[in-house]
Amino acid sequence: MSAVLATAAAPAAQPRMATAVALLGTGVVGGAFLKLLNTPAAGSVQLVAAANSRRQETDPARLAARNLREQLRDSGEARNDATLLAALDASGATTKVVVDATASAALATHHAEWLAHGYHVVTANKALAGGELAGWRALQAALAHGAVYGDTATVGAGLPVLSTLRRLRRCGDALLTLEGVFSGSLSYLFNGYDGSRPFSALLREARELGYTEPDPRADLSGDDVARKLLILARNAGFALGTDEVQVEGLVPEALRALATDAFLARLEELDAPLAARHAEAASRGCVLRFLARLNQRGHARVGLVEVPLTHPAARLYGTDNQFALTTTRYHTQPLVIQGPGAGPEVTAQALLGDVLALG
Ligand SMILES: NC(=O)c1ccc[n+]([C@@H]2O[C@H](COP(=O)([O-])OP(=O)(O)OC[C@H]3O[C@@H](n4cnc5c(N)ncnc54)[C@H](OP(=O)(O)O)[C@@H]3O)[C@@H](O)[C@H]2O)c1
Repeated sequence: MSAVLATAAAPAAQPRMATAVALLGTGVVGGAFLKLLNTPAAGSVQLVAAANSRRQETDPARLAARNLREQLRDSGEARNDATLLAALDASGATTKVVVDATASAALATHHAEWLAHGYHVVTANKALAGGELAGWRALQAALAHGAVYGDTATVGAGLPVLSTLRRLRRCGDALLTLEGVFSGSLSYLFNGYDGSRPFSALLREARELGYTEPDPRADLSGDDVARKLLILARNAGFALGTDEVQVEGLVPEALRALATDAFLARLEELDAPLAARHAEAASRGCVLRFLARLNQRGHARVGLVEVPLTHPAARLYGTDNQFALTTTRYHTQPLVIQGPGAGPEVTAQALLGDVLALG
């Protein structure tokens, strides 16, 4: 039989099986991800389950509804991870993905277990990779089973930072130092703070624009920046514990334990200390920036520093993030990655990109 005839007799290729997704979190980022799933870019990716903190849905007809997020607010089954994983299994898809668009530390503790059972995990949730070192180690051990951890959205809202860092390492390059502005809200605040208005006025405006969390202490504490620094440092080979990042937050002790409304009513207490720091910096021709820094010895620090006007971080706009990587091969000038480091659409796109990369 000729080769041509043999080819003609072969069965027609089967259409590729869909990638099945279970989405955890239907808030700002999860909602934007659902919108993307309804675009041609999603290709054969199929939603087989979706959940918020209280309810979940696995019924295909209800999952297809445009008002799924609203539906989940007061209808659907009670939350149960096992049912969500069963929906992934029942899909028959070759690629089964849990997408975590929550900030839940409790959920993140399951990432390693899901990976070990063969589910890929794509996440905007930083709580595992940026949490306790034991969790990071459990994650590395689980990855040995072959499933993939899509973490692009955890740093820089999807800017190509982690992928670049890992690629450099694969090529034998090594991170020497890392410095930058890792928070969109803190970037906006200090790019705009020139001493002409009280810091509290700028903060109220940023909150109204949705650039800060509803309780801005989540941004001002520096904890979120510290988690991103930990994720980057660990991916660069520095196995740092949470207690090894020195965090100088912006929330005075007296305002830390207050209820959100009480804190918001006392924002003016932030003004005098920051005005003094701004004036000192200005007298030396410098500006204030909330920087994350990792040095060659693995010393990690997050806090407000003054930088000269020639510093790359002095030339940021809006909610820009900036990551300056000095490596053994990028040592004369750092490799700088910069761009919008917040926002539901770019973050959801980072999640979809990681899902599509699995197909
Ligand atoms: N917003 C951004 O620009 C941005 C950028 C980069 C990364 N991120 C990260 O993305 C994640 C989500 O942020 P977001 O702004 O979308 O937050 P969000 O609007 O507060 O939404 C969080 C969602 O998670 C759900 N959730 C909480 N615990 C859950 C659980 N155990 N099971 C299932 N769902 C649960 C919440 O349910 P309920 O509705 O029932 O409370 C809510 O739907 C966070 O980790 C954040 O740091 C956000």
